[in-house]
Amino acid sequence: MSRNGNGKVISFGLQKGGVGKTTSVILTAKELSEQCPDLKVLAVDFDPQGNLSESLGVIEDIDEIKGKDIFQCVMGQEKVEDCILQITDNLDLLPAHEDLSALTLHMIRKAVNEEVGNDVFFMLKDILDPLRAEYDYVLIDLPPERGYLAILGLVASDAVIIVMQAEPFPRRAVPRFIETIEEVAAEYNPYLEIAGILCTMADNRTNMSSEVIRSLRMVYGPKVFDTVIKRTVRLAEASLIGQSRRVKEIQESYGAFVEELLERGVIKQ
Ligand SMILES: Nc1ncnc2c1ncn2[C@@H]1O[C@H](COP(=O)(O)OP(=O)(O)O)[C@@H](O)[C@H]1O
Ligand SMILES: [Mg+2]
Repeated sequence: MSRNGNGKVISFGLQKGGVGKTTSVILTAKELSEQCPDLKVLAVDFDPQGNLSESLGVIEDIDEIKGKDIFQCVMGQEKVEDCILQITDNLDLLPAHEDLSALTLHMIRKAVNEEVGNDVFFMLKDILDPLRAEYDYVLIDLPPERGYLAILGLVASDAVIIVMQAEPFPRRAVPRFIETIEEVAAEYNPYLEIAGILCTMADNRTNMSSEVIRSLRMVYGPKVFDTVIKRTVRLAEASLIGQSRRVKEIQESYGAFVEELLERGVIKQ
């Protein structure tokens, strides 16, 4: 049971792949659940690539969860409780299989047949809202496109953390993603807030990262988190849960990020 029965849903996104979204969800969820053992945390995979699901160490082969993933929950074919997997005492996972990629086409077909109205945008919200009674924090890993799935994720969220790899191309994606967030807020979710922008994979050996972060701070000021996640030598997704020195180093950065989320009141203990 969550402490006040009113959990908060926070999504992590940017319409770009490889910028550190999934890594940020995994390590923020881990650090949050470890630093605040009284809080109950749910990590939600909403990317058909299933990287989050495969990186949390409970699924060896993604086909293990075929038929019991978030796609079936959203479609009303499975109960959410039956698809959630326990990671630790206070951290759970709602996994995604590649089947989730069929959701968009499925909904377009329904829309063409005029079987659906505006509630088509609330499909994820409808399954996550009841979980607010159970979990204090629900962290969603959004897909990299600016498509229907990302919209569903934003409609279901109270806050969004923009994850930006400190390089020029991801930097350019930020204003476009903010536009999407503002559109969703205006049309479907007036409670949606931007919690902040997290810079990841900053490379100290080049000036490029610091230039990008400086330009970001000029435009978005205090919306850019003080914590900057440095790039370590390339991590393999599967090794994130390990104990190597590199994993520890990056995990510590996310520990500092969780402290900043607490200081800013994005998360309350
Ligand atoms: N701080 C970091 N230092 C080094 N490698 C990282 C870091 N953060 C993420 N990575 C690696 O970069 C790749 C992309 O990260 P990922 O979190 O999967 O991005 P996204 O979910 O945005 O596609 C992965 O191989 C991941 O292990
Ligand atoms: Mg990802």
